[in-house]
Amino acid sequence: MKKSIQAIRGMNDIIPTLTTIWQHIEGVLRQVLETYGYQEIRLPLLEKTDLFSRSIGEVTDIVEKEMFTFMDRNGDSLTLRPEGTAGCVRAGIENGLFYNQIQRLWYIGPMFRHERPQQGRYRQFHQIGAEAYGLAGPDIDAEMILMTARFWQKLGLNDLELQINSLGSADARVAYREQLVNYFSEQMNRLDADSQRRLHTNPLRILDSKNPEMQGLIEAAPQLLEHLDEESQEHFVALKQLLDQTNITYRVNPRLVRGLDYYNRTVFEWVTQQLGAQGTVCAGGRYDTLVEQLGGKRPTPAMGFAMGIERLVLLLSQNELPIPNNAPHAYLIMMGNEAVQQGFRLAESLRDTLPQLRLLTHCGGGSLKNQFKRADKSGAKIAIVLGENEIASRQVTLKYLRDNQAQTLIAQSELANYLKSLEFGNEVIGN
Ligand code: HAM
Repeated sequence: MKKSIQAIRGMNDIIPTLTTIWQHIEGVLRQVLETYGYQEIRLPLLEKTDLFSRSIGEVTDIVEKEMFTFMDRNGDSLTLRPEGTAGCVRAGIENGLFYNQIQRLWYIGPMFRHERPQQGRYRQFHQIGAEAYGLAGPDIDAEMILMTARFWQKLGLNDLELQINSLGSADARVAYREQLVNYFSEQMNRLDADSQRRLHTNPLRILDSKNPEMQGLIEAAPQLLEHLDEESQEHFVALKQLLDQTNITYRVNPRLVRGLDYYNRTVFEWVTQQLGAQGTVCAGGRYDTLVEQLGGKRPTPAMGFAMGIERLVLLLSQNELPIPNNAPHAYLIMMGNEAVQQGFRLAESLRDTLPQLRLLTHCGGGSLKNQFKRADKSGAKIAIVLGENEIASRQVTLKYLRDNQAQTLIAQSELANYLKSLEFGNEVIGN
């Protein structure tokens, strides 16, 4: 026997038992995004490699070791997108979306990073992200944070902690970076190999180290927040005021630096304790210089975030949060050829009259027992049976599959009205 082909490590199938929860999350988030006035943008999965190295940064983990990069047939270096922000900026410039305009955009889709797979961390994962362009003030930062808070509220997630920080301006960061290099250089022998490597390439990332032996050193390091330029300081104060005004609880985490280079000023993360090391569910911040850096003609301030859908799915499943049931309402059983002819007509007319009805028609014939078995397995609440007797009397038999109600006969012409009057859980299928 030939060995079957397996999926690529870290790339998962999302099978029908899971798509219900995915669709629920996507539906809730889409609805919230729309109510805040964000518009969907759809972007290619493949981009030129330069786009990511120039935006995310040459000396980040993503660009150094996690990208799926390959040469195409023309010898161009292409990369499967590891995130959505760079492509969004590229598309905005290319399509003239930023020219004297405010844009509030969102996207959903797969991203690719060659990380070591474990629970909550995959090589193909999915993000829902939002980006706003042309707004420099802290108001848009607050709006985005409030919108994410509303996601959690609508999904029933209540253990997420909001952490915020400010990275200041690019200039203030250069000065701070120097201080940090001086501080860590004096402690060279206490740095782990990773941090020694980062000392001169990306010293801010040392602050993000998860190595417990480094924590004392990191805690005593000079803090970025104490070296902010005045404007960034005011921006941060104003953001905190807006969050206070709207009753959003947050923690200022001075060591929150993020793993991508394009950020300045506000950065934030929503973190849970329930997913171990992969606890960041949603993350983002400002990136006011990226548009120009990638060739935009005018300064275009920007702010955005993205969240990992797999992590949300894990959280919702672990907490057994209610998700809508999309099992069929009814299953149509048909005995014999004449019943199939009539049954198909009946099913289509039910679908015309009751557009919300989830009706499974039995296909493949077979005994009554067998058809009932399939009906039961489908999760449907009722079976509609059409056999010889029913055909003769222009009726159907209704059998309740989930509760002890007695079966009834009902006229075919009354069926739509009858189904309309039923309650399926909290769902009513009329109108
Ligand atoms: P990020 O922090 O790299 O930021 O990713 C955002 C979120 O995507 C993470 O918080 C996590 O939930 C999810 N995620 C990242 N990597 C994986 C993975 N390997 N497996 C599963 N989930 C993962 C960005 O991507 C920025 N583009 C966010 C942003 C948008 N900033 C401004 N605008």
